[in-house]
Amino acid sequence: MSFKLYLAPMRGITDYIYRNTFSRHFDGFDAAVAPFIPTSKAIHAKASHLKDVLPENNSAMPIIPQIIGNNPENFIPLARQLSDMGYKTVNWNLGCPFPMVAKKQRGSGLLPYPERIDCFLEKTVPAIPNRLSIKIRLGRKTADDLYKLIPIFNRYPLQDIIIHPRTGIQMYEGEPDLEAFARCLEMTHHRVMYNGDINDLSSFRNLADRFTTIKSWMIGRGAIIDPFLPGTIKNGKDSFNNPLETFRCFYEELFEEYQQVFAGPGHLLERMKGFWTYFSQAFKDGRKIRKRIHRTLKLQRYLEIVERFFEKGAVWDR
Ligand SMILES: Cc1cc2nc3c(=O)[nH]c(=O)nc-3n(C[C@H](O)[C@H](O)[C@H](O)COP(=O)(O)O)c2cc1C
Repeated sequence: MSFKLYLAPMRGITDYIYRNTFSRHFDGFDAAVAPFIPTSKAIHAKASHLKDVLPENNSAMPIIPQIIGNNPENFIPLARQLSDMGYKTVNWNLGCPFPMVAKKQRGSGLLPYPERIDCFLEKTVPAIPNRLSIKIRLGRKTADDLYKLIPIFNRYPLQDIIIHPRTGIQMYEGEPDLEAFARCLEMTHHRVMYNGDINDLSSFRNLADRFTTIKSWMIGRGAIIDPFLPGTIKNGKDSFNNPLETFRCFYEELFEEYQQVFAGPGHLLERMKGFWTYFSQAFKDGRKIRKRIHRTLKLQRYLEIVERFFEKGAVWDR
């Protein structure tokens, strides 16, 4: 069975530093969708927003840049700028569930407005040199949003549609709605990528057995928790020599890389806490180390806790 595996965009997690460090230690991903770049009224995007997608920062893993916004006038120049940088496809974020984003009718907040989405596509698709891919949830509150949108999408030449079958208000609670996903698959003319809760080999196999027409899969949290997972899924390899040591080398390099880019210890510590929310779940009794790390206010103390954990307490449990 030949299929493609994509790293999901996760803002604050899967940036170019993570992607490059991952690639030096693990494998399995064919490409990544990069975390979103917001549109703005400025003619040129801020350099800080583009840093993550600069080709020189992305030689290890191919990427598709993602844009969040609802206004073609702002989206088009950014897509063109990304085309000038060599990106033949851009992804439009129609899934972000956060209320601050959604209330501005961006991300999943735009899903209850099919006419606005149609209007956006009508203006944008012919005006950009790139192919447009869409990453979407089922709806803001119900899957009815996507059932109304698919006939609209069918009228445009999209690259693909990446579906995370939850609603926006669900955030990450409950189960992905696979019945609704199946219905979307029947309705669409486009190539679909599945995304959501692929947390281990068996969850992948269940999905792959059920949705046999799907040839691309996207993994976010499951791969941050267990970076061996993409390789396990892609290459069928499921036993690793000393996974703890491999993970520790990866983690230490990740820490050093971030140490070089963050100006202050506070930012570095916050970033590491974000990672350990996920990393901790790969270890036996991981909640303990997560709590200890999250309570820490000083970088020095954090370093001591992590060092001690790897030396004494860490039991890889995947
Ligand atoms: C911390 C965090 C940040 C995220 N940032 C983005 C983002 O920038 N763009 C996007 O389309 N989705 C974003 N997502 C959603 C993920 O790409 C993915 O759709 C979601 O986590 C479900 O997949 P998973 O179960 O494999 O993690 C984010 C998710 C999390 C948890």
